[in-house]
Amino acid sequence: MKNKQYVIHQFHEDIRLATKIIERPIPDLGDFEVLIRNKYVGVNAIYDRELYKGNVPYIKVEFPSVFGVEAVGEIVAKGDLVEGIQLGQAVSTVKVGSAYQQFQVVDASNIIFIPNASPEYLAINPTGISAHLALEQVADLQEGQTVVVSAAAGGLGHILVQLCKMKNCQVIAICGSEQKVEMLNSLNCCDRIINYREEAIAEVLNKEYNNNIDVAIDSVGGQIFDTFLANLAPLGKLIVVGLASELSRDRFEKIHRARVYESIYWKGASVQCFMNHLYKDKHPEARNHLFSLYQNGNLQIKIDPSSFQGIASIQAASQYLLAGKSCGKVVVAL
Ligand SMILES: NC(=O)c1ccc[n+]([C@@H]2O[C@H](COP(=O)([O-])OP(=O)(O)OC[C@H]3O[C@@H](n4cnc5c(N)ncnc54)[C@H](OP(=O)(O)O)[C@@H]3O)[C@@H](O)[C@H]2O)c1
Repeated sequence: MKNKQYVIHQFHEDIRLATKIIERPIPDLGDFEVLIRNKYVGVNAIYDRELYKGNVPYIKVEFPSVFGVEAVGEIVAKGDLVEGIQLGQAVSTVKVGSAYQQFQVVDASNIIFIPNASPEYLAINPTGISAHLALEQVADLQEGQTVVVSAAAGGLGHILVQLCKMKNCQVIAICGSEQKVEMLNSLNCCDRIINYREEAIAEVLNKEYNNNIDVAIDSVGGQIFDTFLANLAPLGKLIVVGLASELSRDRFEKIHRARVYESIYWKGASVQCFMNHLYKDKHPEARNHLFSLYQNGNLQIKIDPSSFQGIASIQAASQYLLAGKSCGKVVVAL
């Protein structure tokens, strides 16, 4: 049996030139390994693009290199000494370079069991975990604070806004389409939604939340970062979880203005970055917490309604996310 894989075969900014589909044999299983058939994979197009451009400093890419991080699937074979695991059991996996392929081999001791291999679980593990840890470990979010979230209808954003409301925060959500506004409204957790195609973010924040934002979570960067920075409350925190707009450029935008401390010194405010893989020891607890919120009906997981099917559609799914069209987590059914 062959394993179809979507791989990076050279560094290039254009996904069509950097990647291709190949077939390789499935390796023999070691005594303590299991074979998983990936059923759904999560698309992290912004991160992936940095990977196939050769810009992720902590990952060594050796060509051809499978990419993709999270998947849910089923165990279809197991090594001779694997105990307590049944064929057909549903599992969730998270590892850079494991997802964009039909099958993956995993050490049985690393398995995370889930009730069923549905896409919601891959949105939680690890995107939901990132949302939770950014709020708990970096923002140190407190009850009743005023929070603003950019790209709020995205895979990460729609979980962030719900977690903020669970702390009774005043939640301001930024997004860029009417469809996204509808999705955010359906979550019942946003006090103010700003569709930046209809209203100017800076005007709304200056007028309604001037110097009043305790926590700003930004995954877009550029002018949104500047606007959030300008409206931080005393002791406010601006947490950078992503740089979507900045990373779309050939190089980082050079701006001519005072250094960042001009805006934050007198307020005792701060700017911090969040990077999920640096909090690995916190993942199991965060995952269990989020799985149980979801299973108890206290967390809604939104999957983008587009139907991407098969390894060949990962490229289209990526381009769709990069065009800013997605709403919720983008997944591909294999
Ligand atoms: N630091 C970490 O450990 C970590 C972990 C997970 C995710 N992230 C980052 O968090 C961000 C969200 O990830 P996600 O997978 O959930 O994506 P996403 O938010 O579902 O999709 C990206 C959204 O960002 C907004 N956006 C603004 N400018 C953009 C641009 N130039 N290109 C693409 N999108 C743009 C768009 O929404 P609007 O038009 O509505 O603004 C778009 O729909 C990404 O930047 C990702 O890399 C970081």
